[in-house]
Amino acid sequence: MQNFRFSNPTEIVFGRGSIAELATLIPRNKKILMLYGSGSIKRNGVYDQVMEALRGTDFLEFGGIEPNPRHETCMKAVELARKEKVDFLLSVGGGSVLDGTKYIAAAVPFAGDPWDILARKATVNEALPLGCVLTLPATGSESNGFSVVSRDATNEKLAFYSPLVYPKFAVLDPAVTVTLDARQTANGIVDAYAHVLEQYLTYDVNAPLQDRQAEAILLTLIEEGPKVLAKPDDYDVRANIMWCATNALNGLIACGVPQDWTTHMIGHELTALYGLDHAQTLAVVFPATLRRLRANKREKLLRYARRVWNLTGDSPDSLIDQAIDRTENFFRSLGVKTRLEAYGIRDGLERIPERLKNNGSLPLGERGDVDESVVRDILNLCAV
Ligand code: NZQ
Ligand code: ZN
Repeated sequence: MQNFRFSNPTEIVFGRGSIAELATLIPRNKKILMLYGSGSIKRNGVYDQVMEALRGTDFLEFGGIEPNPRHETCMKAVELARKEKVDFLLSVGGGSVLDGTKYIAAAVPFAGDPWDILARKATVNEALPLGCVLTLPATGSESNGFSVVSRDATNEKLAFYSPLVYPKFAVLDPAVTVTLDARQTANGIVDAYAHVLEQYLTYDVNAPLQDRQAEAILLTLIEEGPKVLAKPDDYDVRANIMWCATNALNGLIACGVPQDWTTHMIGHELTALYGLDHAQTLAVVFPATLRRLRANKREKLLRYARRVWNLTGDSPDSLIDQAIDRTENFFRSLGVKTRLEAYGIRDGLERIPERLKNNGSLPLGERGDVDESVVRDILNLCAV
């Protein structure tokens, strides 16, 4: 096992009715800025529950953070927060509102152009504290230090990490996720599943506990996925999916193991260039990444075939083929397409390897051997 440090400071408040607990979680002596998205919280009762819990606190609102949060919108919130001397941020929504909030938290005290935090990896020395009410299980952003932000002007989608932007608390009430439509529900399952694969399908470092933790999340998602599509208002199923998504990217299964974020990095470029949902990109790219990198990932792919898909047989190559096919079929069974052709995307893919090189993302892969030509191969496999 590799050396590691692990700390996850986010307090999780999980369960039915947990939004009411905001009343005790929100600091009383601070000026709060409550941030939200395009209005789903006003339609599903979450906004009213938050208003009730915030009664008696000093707060302002900022709505309109879009899916794949935009730098341009976040800067308007930064301006407001600076002007009003806000000193605590509350995100109410999915991963996009939360990622936007994290960026705003880092940008408010930042001297200089905040975009440097993403584009030049400028260090975040200070950030406003933040908390969240999560309405969409997918990203794991509720208990990690990552944020992904897009910029219209330059057509970029970039990520940053800072230990200072972990939410202080994350309120997770699965009951509020029943209003997610089939597309967002499936997206969330695919995203969480992909997060586990990025940390699990690398090479063996003799870390059986982390391997089994990863497998537990994958198996649970495979079990619960069809159930939630059949019965979208089943609280227990929603709860299981929500807890899986948090555990998929809260740092625990990453302890002491190699990681490979190739699929995510290619996916972010596909979103920036073609506007696909984050999880739609992952369902397309992951099978292709595994097919192209099957030699690098051979041992773990075999383990995945046997332990997650219960495959048996003597031919390692056939087991790996079947495991990749099963993965792809799982995404399809959730209604998420797995080829670029299915989205009508044919042209312009050659820009992606170069963009990844220019934004400093290459080489990728757990062995650092995914260069421009490998990315090109993966994209060719995604095409049709
Ligand atoms: O805008 P609102 O009105 O909030 O509506 C949203 C949005 O239209 C809607 N929604 C959210 N909760 C709902 C709901 N609709 C009905 N009922 C509810 N309870 O769903 C739509 C999608 O929301 P969004 O927040 O964009 O989805 P998600 O949580 O999947 O976040 C995706 C973003 O997270 C980034 C992605 O790149 C993408 O920008 N990621 C962040 C990561 C992180 N911080 O760790 C890791 C991930 O790999 C990912 O890259
Ligand atoms: Zn993701």
